[in-house]
Amino acid sequence: MVWKYQAAAAMTLGMAALGVQGVTTNYSSTVDPTKLNIPNIPQTTSHDVAAQCQYYQPPFTLNPKEWPTSWEIATSNGMNTSAEFTALYNSIDWTKAPNIQPKTLSAEGGLNLQGYDVQGDKDCWWSASQCTKPKAADVNPDIVQCLEPNTWGLTYDDGPNCSHNAFYDFLEQNQQKASMFYIGSNVIGWPYGAMRGLKDGHHLAGHTWSHKLMTTLTNQEVLAELYFTSKAIKYVTGVTPLHWRPNYEDFIAMGSNGTFNTVGNIVLSHEINNMTMDFAVQNYPAIKKNYKHVVDVATCMNISNPYIEKSITYPTFDQLVSKNGSTVTGSGVSPAASGSSSSMGAQTTVNAALFIAALFGVGASLF
Ligand SMILES: *[C@@H]1O[C@H](CO)[C@@H](O)[C@H](O)[C@H]1NC(C)=O
Ligand SMILES: *[C@@H]1O[C@H](CO)[C@@H](O)[C@H](O)[C@H]1NC(C)=O
Ligand SMILES: *[C@@H]1O[C@H](CO)[C@@H](O)[C@H](O)[C@H]1NC(C)=O
Ligand SMILES: *[C@@H]1O[C@H](CO)[C@@H](O)[C@H](O)[C@H]1NC(C)=O
Ligand SMILES: *[C@@H]1O[C@H](CO)[C@@H](O)[C@H](O)[C@H]1NC(C)=O
Ligand SMILES: *[C@@H]1O[C@H](CO)[C@@H](O)[C@H](O)[C@H]1NC(C)=O
Ligand SMILES: *[C@@H]1O[C@H](CO)[C@@H](O)[C@H](O)[C@H]1NC(C)=O
Repeated sequence: MVWKYQAAAAMTLGMAALGVQGVTTNYSSTVDPTKLNIPNIPQTTSHDVAAQCQYYQPPFTLNPKEWPTSWEIATSNGMNTSAEFTALYNSIDWTKAPNIQPKTLSAEGGLNLQGYDVQGDKDCWWSASQCTKPKAADVNPDIVQCLEPNTWGLTYDDGPNCSHNAFYDFLEQNQQKASMFYIGSNVIGWPYGAMRGLKDGHHLAGHTWSHKLMTTLTNQEVLAELYFTSKAIKYVTGVTPLHWRPNYEDFIAMGSNGTFNTVGNIVLSHEINNMTMDFAVQNYPAIKKNYKHVVDVATCMNISNPYIEKSITYPTFDQLVSKNGSTVTGSGVSPAASGSSSSMGAQTTVNAALFIAALFGVGASLF
């Protein structure tokens, strides 16, 4: 077993059941995901950590009033009272959401499981029971493993880190694609890093805005964390991911040094800093040796369209394995992209109902 996901959303709210009405928000991008332009500057080319992590002006205007504060819960900076977020929030029939109180932290900083009925486990709370199949109606189960035999679903959390050039070069040299779970605050902070992830053919997914423990947040906060992360990825790269996962809760709670955590053969890998990326590089040959196929999760699950936008597609597992040259471009940009992008230089507006339903419907999280 390779993959184990949980939908934190299912613990706090069940979106598929919420009867989200069609609401259009100003959720837009001027970036064409099939024509990403990454300049050659030290931040995008150097292997020196300090040079890469020098601030640079983003390639587009960022109006700070339209975004939460970096690394703070995404309701910050008045986002929960903004017209944009309020319209989205009000479009949801919250009476249909499972009524689950936010979890609390213990004195040690871990999740407080005291008083929770683990046997009954009505919340499908992974941290208590490893539950991955929500009991609430109409909430989709999680993607929990790469179903192909002898296959490793390669994933990295926490990016894009400013110092990832050597790591991404390494993946490129090995023609290796991975699923990258990006933190919204990092995407806004290091836009060329996020663009490179998409351009290199990796599968982008969300990893919350501020990397808080999602089960401790209110519905409003959860919605904001997911919404503004997808908005950030769309704004910067031109695609809107349909998948996400929360941070591995114990990873933080236990104060791990973040290099490598194994449970059986499930491995959590992180792009968080130079040390974890070095570790990922060192560890890669062993994964390749022990597994017949090492693939990103979209490919492993035959999810050819992991974004709302259809201009970027991924090969199916069979296509990748048979190295079908006509479908695997190696660039991650599907041949279908030719002329079919609807976002060339123009603003594209995403239908928020579709976005939210999809986002929560396929809630995904390692653990
Ligand atoms: C989107 O923004 C424009 C101007 O910025 C505004 O006129 C319009 O009402 C907004 N639409 C929604 C749905 O918020
Ligand atoms: C917005 O968030 C703040 C901080 O979490 C909270 O105090 C406030 O009640 C929220 N406002 C609304 C309208 O929900
Ligand atoms: C991190 O923890 C792992 C596992 O306990 C250990 O092998 C490794 O040496 C630690 N790395 C650092 C830099 O502390
Ligand atoms: C990115 O990696 C650098 C180098 O290891 C580290 O100093 C920095 O804190 C990381 N950035 C984030 C946001 O974690
Ligand atoms: C980590 O940093 C060192 C020193 O800057 C660099 O040589 C190495 O390539 C980096 N490793 C990764 C994976 O980024
Ligand atoms: C992917 O598609 C192939 C070919 O149709 C099929 O054999 C395989 O079971 C699919 N894998 C998954 C995880 O759906
Ligand atoms: C390669 O993919 C194309 C398009 O999906 C398909 O028509 C063709 O049969 C495939 N070839 C092989 C050898 O799988």
